[in-house]
Amino acid sequence: MELTKQEQAMLDGKEGYAVRKSMEILVALGEIFDAKNLIDVGSVQVAGVSYHNLGDAGLEFLDSLAKDGKVRVLTTLNPAGMDLENWQQLGITAEFAEKQNLVIDAFQRMGILVSCTCTPYLIGNLPLYGEHIAWSESSAVTFANSVLGARTNREGGPSALAAAFVGKTPCYGLHLDENRVPEVHVQVETELSKLSDWGALGYAVGKKAENQIPYLTGIKTAQLDELKSFCASTVTYGTKPLFYIKGITPGADKQVQPKETVTIKAEDIKNAYDSINDNVEEIDFVCVGCPHCSIKEIQEIADLIEGKKVKGDVELWVATSRTVKHLADKRGYTAIIEAAGGKFACDTCMAVAPLKGRFKALATTSAKGCFYSRHNLMKTKMGSMKECIKAAVSGKWNSN
Ligand code: F3S
Repeated sequence: MELTKQEQAMLDGKEGYAVRKSMEILVALGEIFDAKNLIDVGSVQVAGVSYHNLGDAGLEFLDSLAKDGKVRVLTTLNPAGMDLENWQQLGITAEFAEKQNLVIDAFQRMGILVSCTCTPYLIGNLPLYGEHIAWSESSAVTFANSVLGARTNREGGPSALAAAFVGKTPCYGLHLDENRVPEVHVQVETELSKLSDWGALGYAVGKKAENQIPYLTGIKTAQLDELKSFCASTVTYGTKPLFYIKGITPGADKQVQPKETVTIKAEDIKNAYDSINDNVEEIDFVCVGCPHCSIKEIQEIADLIEGKKVKGDVELWVATSRTVKHLADKRGYTAIIEAAGGKFACDTCMAVAPLKGRFKALATTSAKGCFYSRHNLMKTKMGSMKECIKAAVSGKWNSN
């Protein structure tokens, strides 16, 4: 890979330990993927924030970089393993909280915004069309590539951090036009009537367009929350982190519709629900906000739960960024949800919090949430926001 004089000096250690380590990571990556050079990035999003996944070795690595490493571009964080303020209420142990806080402290010393969200585009890390970025959380990467038209590979935690310290990333993969060409035409021949249908669609597309870039037709309208749900689902269940939807996502009109065609019919959506949903009726955990809730979703939750009570042995978590929660506080939604017994889970999510073995059965709006909760040994049910809130109140799925 060709390096400029300044990049070579960084690699030689002239700008300190963290920058040298970062250059080593970026050059190694660039060589593996045949990148010709490094390119500037407009922003970075770092995943690998939960102590639950990092462990002591990860914490040590971060601490070593934080000694002299400072980020050069806007850098935001993915969810951590706990709500940074309200962890006790969510049943997190003091031992875990202590370690998680050390992780956050290391990131803070690097100059990273402790945003702890997988929807950075809702809170001010909003790349422009065509902008090169280095993001790591898969749903956010897919959203940035597909809905915003920015350009990013799916970075690992260390390579995203390295990009933040250097302000650059190797130019390969989805940074290049030739790798952003759609590979399979997905003809959607069914209506999508609720938010979770988009998660089911993502499942179906993921299975039919595995490891490819889909070009979807037949979808007439889409809202932001629906697209963020689809982004999370399609990449979790198999596609590359980029798709086009004719008439909806930017750049779709410039692409040629691929010849290979698969169709998605009502039965594919039904099959997706059948695969995602377990045979379970009693629900003890309801978690909405995967990806993190927008203010509109929180408004919907408040409207649905106002005047009701979450059942005694059920937990309802509303996962969102702290920034969006501040809006919810101002609008009075937080007070309504908390009066009903719901809890806000800011800065964290059901996949990265240490939940293994704690709950038996989850109800959620999210196909991705179901995927990861099965790893946490939960049975899963996916449905609309209305069905989820109903489950929180009754402790049962589809109760009357
Ligand atoms: Fe976000 Fe966690 Fe879901 S990172 S996309 S809420 S699994």
